[in-house]
Amino acid sequence: MADRYLSLTATAPGRFLTRRLGLPQPAALRRWSAEHPSLDGDLLHLTAGASALDLAPVLARTGLPSGSSASSPLAAVVLDATGVRDVDTLAEVHAALHPVVRSVAASGRIVLLGAPLDPGDHHQAAVQQALEGFTRSLGKEIGRGRTVNLVRLADAAAAESTLRFLLSPRSAYVSGQVIGVGAGAVAVPDDWSRPLAGRTALVTGAARGIGAAVAETLARDGARVVVLDVPAAERDARDLAARLGGGAGALPLDITAADAGERIAAGVPDGIDVLIHNAGVTRDRRLVNMSAERWSSVLDVNLASVLRTTDALFAKGALRPGGRIVATASIAGLAGNAGQTNYGASKAGVAGLVRALAPRALAEHGVTVNAVAPGFIETKMTAAVPLFIREAGRRMNSLAQGGLPVDVAETTAWLAHPASGAVNGQVVRVCGQSLLGA
Ligand code: NAI
Repeated sequence: MADRYLSLTATAPGRFLTRRLGLPQPAALRRWSAEHPSLDGDLLHLTAGASALDLAPVLARTGLPSGSSASSPLAAVVLDATGVRDVDTLAEVHAALHPVVRSVAASGRIVLLGAPLDPGDHHQAAVQQALEGFTRSLGKEIGRGRTVNLVRLADAAAAESTLRFLLSPRSAYVSGQVIGVGAGAVAVPDDWSRPLAGRTALVTGAARGIGAAVAETLARDGARVVVLDVPAAERDARDLAARLGGGAGALPLDITAADAGERIAAGVPDGIDVLIHNAGVTRDRRLVNMSAERWSSVLDVNLASVLRTTDALFAKGALRPGGRIVATASIAGLAGNAGQTNYGASKAGVAGLVRALAPRALAEHGVTVNAVAPGFIETKMTAAVPLFIREAGRRMNSLAQGGLPVDVAETTAWLAHPASGAVNGQVVRVCGQSLLGA
C-alpha cells in the first residue's frame, strides 16, 4: 500500500495545506542507487575536546569532498567528541554544531563520535553519556530527512565501514542510534563496491519482503546468495535466485524443523560466510486471548529456530572464520507492543541472544553477531495493518514515514561487510528514530 500522504506532501499545494494544519512534513529520503551512490555536498570535520583519533584519512576515503563551515549545503558533519571529558568540553559540542546545523542539506548526516564510557571516571562517563541524549534530541528536531547518529569508537580505522555507511545514502532510515565499534585490525576489501565477492550468504525467509531485499543487496555486494524459505514459497525463492544470478540458489526448508541446521549445512557444503536470520511471523492477540499454540508458533520461528540453527551450524563448523551473523529483532521487542506479547518476547530474545553470543562467537570462531531491529517497514505484513494503526506507525518517527525493505537490507549489508569485524553485539534499529522505546 503506497504512502499517499508522503506523495501529497511532495506537492506544493499539499505541503501548503499540511503545514497550515500543523501536520507532519516527511521529506523524500535520498537512497543509494548505482547512478547516484553518494550524498551531495561537502563533509565538515569538527572536533570538541582534544582527540587522539586519526580520522582524516578514513573520512577522505568516504569520497565526500572536505568542506569548511562556509560550505553550503553540507552533505555531512562529523563531530569528533571522543575527547569530551567534562562539562566544559561538552559545551564545545554545542559551540561546534550550533552555527552549522542550518547548513546541512536535506537528507544530510550528522555523525557524532564518542569514546567508550570510562567506569573509573564518572565525569567522563557522564558527559559521554550526555552525547546520547544530545544525539537523540537533535535527531528528533532536525527534520528534512536529515539523520543524527553517535558512534562510540576506540580506533578510526576499525570504524571505516561504519562511517562509510552512516555518511552515505544507504543509511537513509537509520537515525538516533548509538553504535559501538571495537578496536583492532579489520579486513579491508579489495573492492569496496563488491565487498562480498567470493563469499556465500544464506538468508532465511528470503522469498519476499525484507528478506528478498536483503538477498538482492547482498548479491549486489558480490555474494553468492542462498535463498531459504518454506517449501510453499519455493517457486518465489527459485525465481528470486534466478534473478540474482552469481550462483544463487534456493533452499526450500521450514526453519522450525528439528534438523534445519544440519540440512542447511548439507545444502551449503562449502560453508557460510554470512548468515541472515530474517524469517519471522506474527500471530497477534492480547495475552488474555492468546492460545498456547499462537504463543509457541511465534516463539518457534522467531527465536527457538534462530537459537537451534545457529548452534547446529557452529557445531558443524559450517560458519567460516571472518563470518557474520545478522539476526532480525524488532522495535516491538525493544519497546513492547499491545497484542504482541509473543512477538515482543521473541524479538527481545533475539537481542539477548546477540549480546550474549557475540563476544564468544568472535573469540572462538572469528564470527560477529549483530541484530537489526526494524521499525515500521512498508511490506505486505504492514500493508495488512488497519488504516489508523498503519498511519500512526508511519508517522510516529523522526522522519515521519515508513522505511523500505531496502533500508533494512543496507543496514544488514553494512553489518555483513568484511570490514565490519569490529562491530559486534550491536542491536541497530532501522526505524527512522521511532518514538516507540529508547
Ligand atoms: P514477510 O512475512 O513479508 O516475510 C517473511 C518470510 O519468512 C516469508 O517469506 C515467509 O515464508 C518466511 N518464513 C516464515 N516462517 C518460516 C519458516 N518457518 N521457515 C522458513 N521461512 C519462513 O515479513 P517481513 O515484513 O519481510 O519481515 C521480515 C523480518 O523482519 C521478520 O523477522 C519480521 O519479524 C521482521 N520485522 C518486520 C517489520 C516490518 O515492519 N515489516 C518490523 C520489524 C521486524
